[in-house]
Amino acid sequence: MPEPLLPELLRSPAAPLEASTPASPRSLPPVTSASHPLAFGRVAFAHPAEAEFAQLLDFYRVAWLYEPTSFPLRWEGDRITEMFTPDFYLPEYDLYVELTTMKQSLITRKHRKLRRIRELHPDLNVVLLTRRDYYELLARVGYGAVEITSLPEQDIERILCSPTEIAARVAALGHQISLDYAGRSIVVVGLLKGVTYFLADLTRAITRPLAIDYLAVAPPDERQTDRVRFAKDLDLDIAGRHVLLIEDIVTTGLTLDFVLNRLRQRQPASLEVCALFDKRERRLIDVPVLYTGFEIPNAYVVGYGLDYRQLYRNLPFLCVLKPEVYARDHAARLAAVNGHPR
Ligand code: IMP
Repeated sequence: MPEPLLPELLRSPAAPLEASTPASPRSLPPVTSASHPLAFGRVAFAHPAEAEFAQLLDFYRVAWLYEPTSFPLRWEGDRITEMFTPDFYLPEYDLYVELTTMKQSLITRKHRKLRRIRELHPDLNVVLLTRRDYYELLARVGYGAVEITSLPEQDIERILCSPTEIAARVAALGHQISLDYAGRSIVVVGLLKGVTYFLADLTRAITRPLAIDYLAVAPPDERQTDRVRFAKDLDLDIAGRHVLLIEDIVTTGLTLDFVLNRLRQRQPASLEVCALFDKRERRLIDVPVLYTGFEIPNAYVVGYGLDYRQLYRNLPFLCVLKPEVYARDHAARLAAVNGHPR
């Protein structure tokens, strides 16, 4: 299909081209449409590969704009003779993406356009992507921890919070906590192990002086007694200190209730809770959570520190695993119990 020289956007009255007559190449500015939908919107794509790419970006919750900007490439007098409208713009990465099929003639033409645009706008961040390259791009924009090339066989069903969304929320929490604790220092207590990345990122977003300590609650299969207990206790004395307990996720509230009761006995000056994820629907005990990152639906989640049988913690996003993962594990455990090889 031949590429339109002037895309729809440029023919619209909202984007008058005639206004600027170039004296030199750089004086002709790109035309940007403010009316295109931002991230996750639905648009009419010119090509199925674009729809597929948009779907992939949606899956990873990467914000995108479809053909938001047209760059004049060549002109005669005040008449533009060639334009370049990259297919996508990813605002979080300030990156333009032009997709291409495997057809050599098209690739050559697009490479030529790309060379020209780089001459005119050397600071522009623009890449030409083949279908094969999609996964590589996603790896570069923050999904490096996943074996992206084998994505269809991966265990992830859907991503609930992207690295960018998490980073923005953590920064906002850090800012709020810094304001609320003005004039005070804090003892930040992290509940191991799920809190690893959250605590590391959050504390760097807090501008108050703080000390860090850790607590671990013994997991059920390690609890030799029939009562919940600390597998690791605090090193610091928290009496008279302002304590901020950091939790990865609150579900039933049972863990948090136990921990809060034990910490209150040590008479801190104040004791508040900051939880990144909250499955409020599943709450059994009403626990006081002052700072919440995200309320999430009632599904088992992994990533950004959260695990399933100690795995998936290092995924940079929060996601739901496919039910097959649990079924597979269940079958393997049953086989082990029954003495069958896996
Ligand atoms: P709660 O006692 O039911 O509130 O659960 C709290 C603890 O269970 C958290 O600190 C996590 O370690 C773990 N947990 C609860 N829900 C999830 C989940 O969806 N994924 C991973 N760990 C979870």
